[in-house]
Amino acid sequence: MTIRKAVLPVAGFGTRVLPATKAIPKELLPVVDRPALQYVVDEAIEAGIEHIVFVTGRGKGAIEDYFDLSFELEASLASKASKADILLEVQKTRLPAGGASFTRQQEPLGLGHAIWCARDIVGDEPFAILLPDVIVKAEKSCLAQMVEAYDKVGGNIIAVDPVPEERVSSYGVIAPKGERDGRLIEMSAMVEKPPRDEAPSNLAITGRYILQPEIFGLLSDQGAGAGGEIQLTDSMARLMDMQSFYAYEFEGAPYDCGSKLGYFNAVLAHAVDHPEIGDGARELLAKL
Ligand code: G1P
Repeated sequence: MTIRKAVLPVAGFGTRVLPATKAIPKELLPVVDRPALQYVVDEAIEAGIEHIVFVTGRGKGAIEDYFDLSFELEASLASKASKADILLEVQKTRLPAGGASFTRQQEPLGLGHAIWCARDIVGDEPFAILLPDVIVKAEKSCLAQMVEAYDKVGGNIIAVDPVPEERVSSYGVIAPKGERDGRLIEMSAMVEKPPRDEAPSNLAITGRYILQPEIFGLLSDQGAGAGGEIQLTDSMARLMDMQSFYAYEFEGAPYDCGSKLGYFNAVLAHAVDHPEIGDGARELLAKL
């Protein structure tokens, strides 16, 4: 079955980049000339996603406005021939009518709970999850690579990326087993935020998932796990006992925009490759 819907949890406070995120959703912080969230939505659309489900929270209304038609802005830009290029860019940010839903996670009970909040909107079909903290810079969008793999093997697929061992405790980590099939990896276990000496590998879950709808039933009775939160990883580990489940080591570079250094790295990487400011950005960096 085609992957038509993607869930983007955007309810988090952005505590790691406060005070920048006190009045602006962290997902709308700019990476060069567009919000971080735009890159993630573009990735989803490139992968064929037709409907985006945003799991939002209080104080996140600007996200809904961002993806809507801004009538006054577009009318003003349209009245000046010199603004035609900007108008085009602004128009590209609109999601198609009926192509987005917004639901609120009322309390910060964890990623698993945030995804569970989307259960009725997703319904009984396989779907994608993209965590907007992570921007993946790649030739072919990370989710598109996963959809291609899904078309071959079906089931459930999660993106993984090797991380330095001292950082494994910040992620969900998988235990690979058996031979690899290209970028697809079979697993025997997955664990959320393991202490470094208990991590089964250095392959970290990287914020992109294709899951079957049975995950929702498991999430509905999932107890609190790491950090006292309802963890998606814990329900996925249970789903793994029931259905086909692969990890996928994608091609591309992930940037964690939820941390100060990761965000700065994302800005630098996108600036030096930017068609308009790339050369200037390289010169500036060389000077620094
Ligand atoms: C979440 C997931 C974790 C994953 C990480 C990727 O953790 O729970 O498994 O490795 O995203 O960024 P969070 O960063 O929300 O604590």
